[in-house]
Amino acid sequence: MSLVIRDIAIEPNLVLAPMEGVTDVIFRRLVRRIGGCGLTVTEFIAAEGLKRNVKKVLEMAEFDPDESPLSIQIYGRTPASMAEGAKIVQDLGADIVDLNMGCPSKKVCAHSGGSALMKEPELARDIVRAMRAAVDIPFTVKMRSGWDHDHKNAPEIAYMCQEEGAEMVAVHWRTRTDKYGGVRELDTLRAVVDKLSIPVVANGDIVDAASALDTMAQTGAAGLMIGRGAIRNPWVFREIEAAMKGEPIPEIDFLERKRVLLGYLEDIRDRFHSEKGTLGRFKKISGYFTKGVPYGSELRQGIFHSQEIGEAIDVVESFFDGLPDRLGPRHAPFVPETFKADSFQPQVAK
Ligand SMILES: Cc1cc2nc3c(=O)[nH]c(=O)nc-3n(C[C@H](O)[C@H](O)[C@H](O)COP(=O)(O)O)c2cc1C
Repeated sequence: MSLVIRDIAIEPNLVLAPMEGVTDVIFRRLVRRIGGCGLTVTEFIAAEGLKRNVKKVLEMAEFDPDESPLSIQIYGRTPASMAEGAKIVQDLGADIVDLNMGCPSKKVCAHSGGSALMKEPELARDIVRAMRAAVDIPFTVKMRSGWDHDHKNAPEIAYMCQEEGAEMVAVHWRTRTDKYGGVRELDTLRAVVDKLSIPVVANGDIVDAASALDTMAQTGAAGLMIGRGAIRNPWVFREIEAAMKGEPIPEIDFLERKRVLLGYLEDIRDRFHSEKGTLGRFKKISGYFTKGVPYGSELRQGIFHSQEIGEAIDVVESFFDGLPDRLGPRHAPFVPETFKADSFQPQVAK
């Protein structure tokens, strides 16, 4: 399967999911350096904030000069502000602008944004139409399979998006009421793929080569979007890429994990310029990143209790340096175990 959004080839056909508080320029850089990801997407950005030039909001839209293809995702409730937001995204230099129609958070839904739009097809159409008319760059939409189990209307909404000029849709198999739980059901995604002629990207609980190949086979999607699996294991893209090519899965040793974690810390320190901001973000990301690492809870505790950046660095170094001895001579390279979605609740879905 190949994924081409208008004339932008997404190679490989693996997309980093937008994640608020996670997929900022630094995390996306980490993923791009590791490789295997064909398209990065920013966290959701309020169109209203872009319009009003809010510094914090503009920072969320920052990207590296060599970051391409890049999609900037926006959310909002009025067609006019979403159109304006899309235009700003285009002017900032993004390759693609994406509409958030999937976020379940109360903050976003309360303003009729995110997944609430799936309950209001007329408003959704107006927003899609306005955004499409505002920009020349490719325009895509990310949604859930529906609002709830009685309203799995992603096929109809996605079709409307296509007819209004969207050039790719990404669909998370959960409904809004599933939040981040629910029982995996890919039939609705399959129905979207069957109904549309534009590319469809499948999303939800893809965490390793096996879940990726299974999702691809069950849905026939043109590409896959990976969120939490990439925070826990940013090598997941390379693993899936290898599996799709029928190549052996690359093995990641602990030294590489240590190098990437400390490199991430350096990068956020440069960005946040504050001990508190750096430590806060590092604690959050390393909490995900160290899940599945042997004795990982010790590492998480150590990082969590660090008062200073230097202390956190010492904790990471001594933990990873001591790991081979603790595991014995036959210690295996890191192979992530499949995680349960329920144990991985995002902070955004209050
Ligand atoms: C911490 C976190 C923040 C998220 N923020 C966004 C967001 O800004 N925009 C969006 O469309 N979806 C957001 N999502 C949903 C993800 O993009 C994705 O659809 C969902 O996590 C399912 O994919 P996964 O199982 O691969 O994580 C967020 C998810 C998480 C875990």
